[in-house]
Amino acid sequence: MGAGPAGLMLSHLLHLEGIESVVLESRSRAHVRERVRAGVLEQSVVELMQQTGVGERVSRQGIRMRGIDFRFDGEPHLVEFSAAGRYAMVWPQHELVEDLASARVAAGGEILYESAVTALESLDARPVIHYGGKKLGCDFVAGCDGFHGISRGAIPPSVLKEHDHVFPFGWLGVLAEAPPAWPDITWGCHPREFAMMSMRTPAMTRLYLQCAPDDDAANWSDERIWSELHARLDLPGGTKLNEGRIVQKGVAAMRSYVAEPMRHGRLFLAGDAAHIVPPTGAKGLNAAMADVRVLARALAAHYKRGDDGLIERYSETCLRRMWLVERFSTWLCTTVHRFPDTDAFTRRLQLAELQYMALTETGRRSFAENFTGLPVEA
Ligand code: APR
Repeated sequence: MGAGPAGLMLSHLLHLEGIESVVLESRSRAHVRERVRAGVLEQSVVELMQQTGVGERVSRQGIRMRGIDFRFDGEPHLVEFSAAGRYAMVWPQHELVEDLASARVAAGGEILYESAVTALESLDARPVIHYGGKKLGCDFVAGCDGFHGISRGAIPPSVLKEHDHVFPFGWLGVLAEAPPAWPDITWGCHPREFAMMSMRTPAMTRLYLQCAPDDDAANWSDERIWSELHARLDLPGGTKLNEGRIVQKGVAAMRSYVAEPMRHGRLFLAGDAAHIVPPTGAKGLNAAMADVRVLARALAAHYKRGDDGLIERYSETCLRRMWLVERFSTWLCTTVHRFPDTDAFTRRLQLAELQYMALTETGRRSFAENFTGLPVEA
C-alpha cells in the first residue's frame, strides 16, 4: 500500500529477490512524482540504490555533502562527516521516487495509481485488500501508506501502542529559484529562531524558517521571508544568502511519533505509516528505507528458506533502530530551536550542546555517525 519511497523501494527489492508484488497508490502518478519533500540520503541508502541498479542518476547528479555548517554565536562551525569517515547525499525525494518507479515499470512491475485501499481483511490468514471496488488476495500486506494512511488503523487498539510528541513550533518550508549561497547545508541556530539553507539542485535552494505551529504560509510575504532568512543565517561581513523567485511555500508541523508493534499478523507497517520524526535530522525518508530493507530480507527468508524468524523479529528489529533515530532527531530539534517558554538557563544549555557537538572530536563524530546513518540490521 503506497507508492511513496517505502512502497516503491520494497517492491523493487522484492522483485530482485524474485518475489511478486502489486503497489496500490491512492494518488495519481503525476502527484506522487512531483511532491517536494525530503532531500537528504544517508550513505547506505545511496549504496543500496547503486547496488540494486537504481543509483545511476544519484551517483551522477546528487550533491555529495561534506558536512553541515552550524552557525551560532555569530560564527560558522563546519561539522564534517569525515569525522566518521562517511558522507551523505542531497537527492530530492521525488527524484528517488522517479528512479524507483521507472525501474519498476521497466521490469514489468505493477503500480496501480488512483487505487486507494479502503479496507484490509483476514490479516491473520490469507489477507484480502479492498481497493476501488475490487479485491486483491495476497500472502502479505506492506502498509507503506504514510502517516495519514489506513494500514495502522488495522491493528486493534488493544494491541497498538502510540507514542506521540508535538513540538510547540513549525517550519515554513520555501523552495526558491536561487543557487545556494554556501557550499554546505547551513543551520542558523539563532536567538531570533532557527533557520536552514539546504539545496535541491545547483540552481534551487530549499529554505526553512521556524514559525508558530499553526502559522499560515499566507502570513509570510516574500519580503518577510527573505528578511528573516538574512537575519538568522547571514554572518557579519560574510557572503549573503542568494534570493530568487519563491516557487513554493508551506508550513509543516514538528512531531515525533512511533507506533508499536510494526507487525500484526501478515500486515507490516513501514516508513511514515509507523513512525515520523521532526524534519531536523533529515531522517524520515532514510528511516523508511531502513524498514523496507529489513522487510525485504525477512520476506526473502520466508520464500526462499521457509524461515520466518526475521518476520517474527521485524517489528523489534526496526523499532530498535528507529528509537535511536527518534533520539537523534528529537535531540537535534530540541537543541537548535528557540522554545516559546525557554528560560536563560535552558538557552545557555542549548548553546553548550551545540559547542560540545561542533567543537569536540567526540561530539563531531557522534553527530556525523547519526546524520550519515546508523547501521541497518538484518
Ligand atoms: N491506499 C493507497 N495508497 C495510500 C493510501 C491508501 N489508503 N493512503 C495513503 N496512500 C499513499 C500516499 O498517497 C503516498 O503516496 O501512500 C504513500 C505514502 O508515501 P509517503 O507519505 O511518502 O511515506 P513513505 O513512503 O513512508 O516515505 C517517507 O515521507 O516523511 C516523509 O518526506 C518524508 O521522506 C519521508 C517519507
